Amino acid sequence: LANGLGLTPQMGWNSWNHFNCNIAEKTIIETADALVSTGLSKLGYRYVNIDDCWAEKERDSKGNLVPKASTFPNGIKALADYVHSKGLKLGIYSDAGYQTCSKTMPGSLGHEEQDANTFASWGIDYLKYDNCNNDGSKPPERYPVMTRALLKTGRPIFFSLCEWGDLHPALWGAAVGNSWRTTNDIADTWDSMISRVDMNDVWAPYARFGGWNDPDMLEVGNGGMTKNEYIAHFSLWALVKAPLLIGCDVRSANNETLEIIGNEEVIAVNQDLLGVQGTKVRMEGDQEIWAGPLWGGRVAVVLLNRGPRDYEIIAEWDDIGLPSTATAKVRDLWKVSSISNFINTIIRFGRSQSSKLIYACVIFDILGA
Ligand code: GLA
Repeated sequence: LANGLGLTPQMGWNSWNHFNCNIAEKTIIETADALVSTGLSKLGYRYVNIDDCWAEKERDSKGNLVPKASTFPNGIKALADYVHSKGLKLGIYSDAGYQTCSKTMPGSLGHEEQDANTFASWGIDYLKYDNCNNDGSKPPERYPVMTRALLKTGRPIFFSLCEWGDLHPALWGAAVGNSWRTTNDIADTWDSMISRVDMNDVWAPYARFGGWNDPDMLEVGNGGMTKNEYIAHFSLWALVKAPLLIGCDVRSANNETLEIIGNEEVIAVNQDLLGVQGTKVRMEGDQEIWAGPLWGGRVAVVLLNRGPRDYEIIAEWDDIGLPSTATAKVRDLWKVSSISNFINTIIRFGRSQSSKLIYACVIFDILGA
């Protein structure tokens, strides 16, 4: 969407994956504080996004959405002021239907302008717009009503389409929003995570400045996957230019989690100025090579072992778009070191132990010459 936002994939936090409906202004305030104190905000995680369940079940007598008094007693405007005072941005959630997915609050269908104006008056910077409980009309017609309403407010509001990929939003999303979900909801398991990134892959050509494919929010730190599975999750999300929206409780995130979501060089792959979504370029059974070009003639590569057995995965220059005669500098972004100054023709990745996902993946940044 040409609203000047989303020039790189959005980064921040969202309440849903960890808290579901269990949210309150205290959680949001403490999360904003934690994003600053952990240093994550400096790395680019700027949007603090409230998901479903923040409003009263009924609108007020003028038809306005009302923040839930029991959990957001000071209202959303005060929360936005606080979040802004920390140098961060506040996101909120609504739905292109009559009720949101939780059915605990109204959706914005038929109230698009009124709600957009409310959000703008509160100082909202980001809207995630879901698709539950709608009137059966087509999303490519229903979503743009909110796009126009947001633009009309004059406030730059990042617009995240949450249509779950059913009507192929990659095909129409670029004119409507800044990102669009290509899948239904992620769960905190390896199978769920890896199938989301597969579903998202087919839409790669549609990712661009201002409009990104969204395989759903991060689960890193929520406890359902091993460290190496989370490393694979984060590496893939970085490579495919997915939104990096943290989905754990940042207030209690341990060092392992902070090291994964705080890896500056992996984040840099995601935020790379070329803005090209990396894709699966080769697969043989459980062995996969994912790659995509980066600015300055560099290439990002993920060597991914999806299976339970040991393999040595070899990426040849041909696989990753480098001429076979190229000499290149290769940097392992998880070891955060150059694995060799100059390597010709191949990069290798050997799994060291069997029957457990010990090294699910590595991500490389390669400067070809
Ligand atoms: C849908 C969305 C989720 C979340 C919930 C909230 O399932 O896909 O990301 O927003 O609704 O109810």
